[in-house]
Amino acid sequence: MIIGKLFLTTEQIQEKITELSNKISADYDGKEIIAVGILKGSFMFFADLIRTLKIPVTLDFIIASSYLKSTSTGEIKMHYDIREDITDKHVLLIDDIIDTGISLNYLRERILSKGPASLKLCILLDKKERRIVDVPVDYVGFEIPNQFVVGYGLDYDNKYRNLPYIAVFKKET
Ligand code: IMP
Ligand code: MG
Repeated sequence: MIIGKLFLTTEQIQEKITELSNKISADYDGKEIIAVGILKGSFMFFADLIRTLKIPVTLDFIIASSYLKSTSTGEIKMHYDIREDITDKHVLLIDDIIDTGISLNYLRERILSKGPASLKLCILLDKKERRIVDVPVDYVGFEIPNQFVVGYGLDYDNKYRNLPYIAVFKKET
């Protein structure tokens, strides 16, 4: 198995994070947020993003899985849920990628049912043309075409998450 073409460099990703972070910090000026990262995919983006925010942040995670290899099963399994009390708090949900929207839609509704003061979504990559469920995303890093990508948290079969850049995944033939 080999990794394919370089898609986003470390520099391009970091530049985008600065941009997103400035916008988020300005939008939440004077407020505190609970940043919730969806694991495992968001771990790198989450860490880079929250360390540059200029507002007070409490953090938590959700561990959920929806994917079998590179096709969505459409089923979401919860392995770990938020432990912070999010009632009347401003929640920022952070994920690596939105594809069909099925998992984020499920997680969004689950969080909304707990009565936060507000809920916004921040997603690094958006595969817009693949969307099945319409999910409102407030902050998007990059809109990308329908290609399977790995690196910077994103995996194929749980591999390549550690790459500091994002590449289009290509199977060895
Ligand atoms: P959705 O429910 O179809 O939006 O699925 C989103 C999840 O699918 C993401 O959190 C990823 O775990 C996974 N996923 C979708 N596209 C890719 C990709 O190109 N590379 C790696 N994982 C992906
Ligand atoms: Mg994911």
